[in-house]
Amino acid sequence: MDIKTLVSQMTLEEKAGLCSGDDFWHTKAVERLGIPRTMVSDGPHGLRKQSEAADHLGINDSIEAVCYPAASATAASFDTEMIREMGEALGESCQHEKVSVLLGPAVNIKRSPLCGRNFEYFSEDPFLAGKMCTAHIQGVQSKNIGTSIKHFALNSQEHRRMSSSSDADERTIREIYFPAFEMAVKKAQPWTVMCSYNRINGVYASENPWLLTDVLRTEWGFEGYTVSDWGAVSDRVAGVAAGLDLEMPSSGGINDRKIVEAVKAGKLDEKIVDQACERILNIVLRYLENAKPETPWDKDKQHEQAAQIAAECMVLLKNEDDLLPLGKEDTVALIGEFAAKPRFQGGGSSHIHCFKTTGAVEAAKAAGLKATYAPGYSVAEDNLPEDRLAEAVAAAKAAKVAVVFAGLPDSYESEGYDREHMRMPECQNRLIEAVAAANPNTVVVLHNGSPVEMPWIGKVKAVLEAYLGGQAVGEAEIRVLFGDVNPSGHLPESFPYKLEDNPSFLYYGGEGNRTEYREGIFVGYRYYDKKKMDVLFPFGFGLSYTTFAFSNLRLSADSIRDTDMLTVTATVTNTGKRAGKAVAQLYVGDVESTVIRPVRELKGFEKVLLQPGESKDVSFTLDKRSFAYWNEEIHDWHVETGAFTIEVGDSSRNLPLQAEVTVESTVELPRHYTADSIYLDVMKDPKASGIMRAFMEKTMEIFGHEENSANTEAAKEAITEDMTMAMMKYMPLRGILSFGGAEAEGELNNLLEKLNSL
Ligand code: BGC
Repeated sequence: MDIKTLVSQMTLEEKAGLCSGDDFWHTKAVERLGIPRTMVSDGPHGLRKQSEAADHLGINDSIEAVCYPAASATAASFDTEMIREMGEALGESCQHEKVSVLLGPAVNIKRSPLCGRNFEYFSEDPFLAGKMCTAHIQGVQSKNIGTSIKHFALNSQEHRRMSSSSDADERTIREIYFPAFEMAVKKAQPWTVMCSYNRINGVYASENPWLLTDVLRTEWGFEGYTVSDWGAVSDRVAGVAAGLDLEMPSSGGINDRKIVEAVKAGKLDEKIVDQACERILNIVLRYLENAKPETPWDKDKQHEQAAQIAAECMVLLKNEDDLLPLGKEDTVALIGEFAAKPRFQGGGSSHIHCFKTTGAVEAAKAAGLKATYAPGYSVAEDNLPEDRLAEAVAAAKAAKVAVVFAGLPDSYESEGYDREHMRMPECQNRLIEAVAAANPNTVVVLHNGSPVEMPWIGKVKAVLEAYLGGQAVGEAEIRVLFGDVNPSGHLPESFPYKLEDNPSFLYYGGEGNRTEYREGIFVGYRYYDKKKMDVLFPFGFGLSYTTFAFSNLRLSADSIRDTDMLTVTATVTNTGKRAGKAVAQLYVGDVESTVIRPVRELKGFEKVLLQPGESKDVSFTLDKRSFAYWNEEIHDWHVETGAFTIEVGDSSRNLPLQAEVTVESTVELPRHYTADSIYLDVMKDPKASGIMRAFMEKTMEIFGHEENSANTEAAKEAITEDMTMAMMKYMPLRGILSFGGAEAEGELNNLLEKLNSL
């Protein structure tokens, strides 16, 4: 039956009811019309489906599932094809389990390393986050399961997450905090969008018409339904009017009644309620019509897939003397509790009840390696007892290589609260120092969802960032450490030396319920690069067991209009002895700009597998958006005519290939000159400069006639003509009036008339 007809048969009470959940995880049924309830579940990197009997807040009572690497890790793969395949697997699990919508991906920007939920988010860079989430959504939805891209928007902290207002200017929102959502909506049409808990510039996301309707639907063309984050609704009637279709979870009928009353009182147009129902039913029926509960769910196969993905995500941060990969005959001491019981996922709503997990100790044993194990620190006690320290040091001494598995315990980072610092537990730092002192061949493997300080970095030979690598992380680690897999992950975020270096440091968390995003667009590498600051590891960085060279940068044109496409091609060569994957990254920078812009911004990347000695071309297509900034005057993307740098390499700080392209704008910015406009701004306008030159001459003439000291010889020496010109540029056009009386006024009016009719 046609959805509009269905909705027309519903009572107002039924319609208001449909706009909130039946319980924690279900939309409501309308049995009278044959519409069953449908289930939604978290996400994003596994299926957290609570069994029917479960209490609704429990975390571990969800069904056994497969935990893939968290978004912080998958982003490091820079591999959109791989995350798409992960999405497909998740979609199949949902089909099997009759879950209509998987609640994710989560794409908020990593504004600070402190956000407790960074492990669940992709990047500090909107382009990378956008590409990865788009592929994730396409994967899940290819199986006719919906996604819920979240948390829309500016939800970059957990601190006071349900009351705080994220206050940012329009350009910052458009350039940094929106693009991942925008790309996903335009390219992948997620079935649902989940609004965030916080307010944006004072207005709750759940009742923000600009966010939920003007931008999301009118501008970007979103077609699915919007859903509140769980408990994000404050004023339900305002929410419906703003475009929030579904409230989750159930409000126990309270808010449904408010909707009914508002319609009856003429305060809310029933058509808006109808529209929300149509949107919800559209998705409900899309799922029901394509439901395939007979889809098999092969968890062992997915476990192996999770291991492969985890290995693709690991970032080799340091590898002195080519200590890695280890030889299969080497004696290796695996040290630290995370070697046996890895931390591989974060706490909160994304927590998966894994059907199995594998740590490195178990994986090493299964691979028949000569590995010993000493737990060292205790995660539960967050300490390092002397006897355990001595045992670890002895194990390190007895082995050829010591590998310390360290990172952040669960309690250090989780949904619901932020970190207070960027340090690892002191007991783990002490263990690393002691092991490194005992064995010069020390490797550190990190399990963390967000950057940590590394006070011991100069004392260890190798560091492998495993992030939160999912339930098969141990197998992946052994494959990478021993060279079965050549690491190819690159950092999706900058690692500053210390927290205080981060651009949001002074303002993060805000004051009371207000968090001002004062660093604006200068998030992550956009800030570090502009400041020419050293960082511990830059955005995009990652080593390999082989080496790559970049050459032969080619642009399809030297000069384009902003409506044209530009193709950029480069050659990547594997100059080492092992097969490996390079991540070619392309950054664009505006050489000269009237607005303040970052030095460079990521606008393309491609991962490419190369055999030793092999070369391949990578190519990128750039469009207007690649060069544009958000212009607050025209409320649109705008490219300023001029030269742009194109840089290609394999990290934001290693860009051996550089070229320039000129982009010509096809958009004329509106201009309106008044007597308060300054000479400089008018002179810079190419159309106005001719008229302006004549006016300047007139001005000089009038000045010259002044019977003041400017004509005396001494004054001429003190103020040269150049200086006069330089001083004049900041003068308002009305400045002429101060010297020229009626004649000047006539000149000024004449000028303004000419300028404004150009
Ligand atoms: C989280 C969401 C999650 C929802 C349902 C909320 O607390 O912020 O990400 O999808 O709960 O569990």
